[in-house]
Amino acid sequence: MLEEFEKFLQTHIIKTKSFHPFYNEAYEKMLNAGGKRFRPLLLLNVVKAYNPLLINASMNAALALEMIHTYSLIHDDLPAMDNAPFRRGTPTLHVTYGEAAAILTGDALNTDAFLVLMNSPIDAKTKVKLCEILSFNAGSGGMALGQAIDCYFENQPLDESELEFLHTHKTARLIAAALQMGSVIAGLSNELEEKLYAFGLELGLLFQIQDDIIDAVKSKEEAGKPTNNDAHKNSFVNLFGLTNAILKRDAKVKELKAKAETFGALEGYFQKILDTNFK
Ligand code: IPE
Ligand code: IPE
Ligand code: MG
Ligand code: MG
Ligand code: MG
Repeated sequence: MLEEFEKFLQTHIIKTKSFHPFYNEAYEKMLNAGGKRFRPLLLLNVVKAYNPLLINASMNAALALEMIHTYSLIHDDLPAMDNAPFRRGTPTLHVTYGEAAAILTGDALNTDAFLVLMNSPIDAKTKVKLCEILSFNAGSGGMALGQAIDCYFENQPLDESELEFLHTHKTARLIAAALQMGSVIAGLSNELEEKLYAFGLELGLLFQIQDDIIDAVKSKEEAGKPTNNDAHKNSFVNLFGLTNAILKRDAKVKELKAKAETFGALEGYFQKILDTNFK
């Protein structure tokens, strides 16, 4: 599935004609640099499990998700946010092309994601629903809110429920949206769609606990991005300590592995990502 998605991405990156010297190069760089493609694979695996004939028709929606995620990383790395010089094993856009180019590339990916989604070879009603899910979870009440809280409350420790609120918005909403979008394309019942969205929120929170652990235990080379970079952040490691963050992660893995058993055709996939800590 990853290979099919990569092929689709390679052949569907928007190229723009202009006399700008590196506009397309900057636009493509972070998309091409790889990453786990976790969110598109979640969407595609829901479709594969329940309605495999619709895999090809789902590629646009999967790419739209990856474009939103990639824009969020480009902006997350800016000097005004996490000030990170390295991402996906390569220098960040603001380092290579300057801040204006990085901001505008993020803006373009954010908007183009909806163009790519709207070009999906699926019926208009489904596309409207997908557009609503993606914008709701990425926008002002979703990921952007999480990022705003993350940045505003640097150096101000939050309590546990505030910490969960932060990370649920910053990271889990888009991950839950991926499962929900897959459900909508596959035509699942409202009940299963809601159950997958709720599971996605928990999975996303676990994903961020693991991301915070990576910052504490991995090298820059292993992570493909700067580590030990969360000193001022409300990370799970900073608030609970590394040992407790690991215990919390392992307890959550166990809990979600039990829940995964109730997902029938998706169980195997969920067990696999839980067994490998999203590698
Ligand atoms: C990193 O996301 C940012 C978080 C939300 C934790 P990923 O760990 O999915 O980054 P890539 O896509 O693999 O580069
Ligand atoms: C960023 O979280 C989440 C986004 C919405 C981009 P982090 O700041 O922890 O992500 P990394 O560690 O830089 O990948
Ligand atoms: Mg950040
Ligand atoms: Mg960051
Ligand atoms: Mg992080």
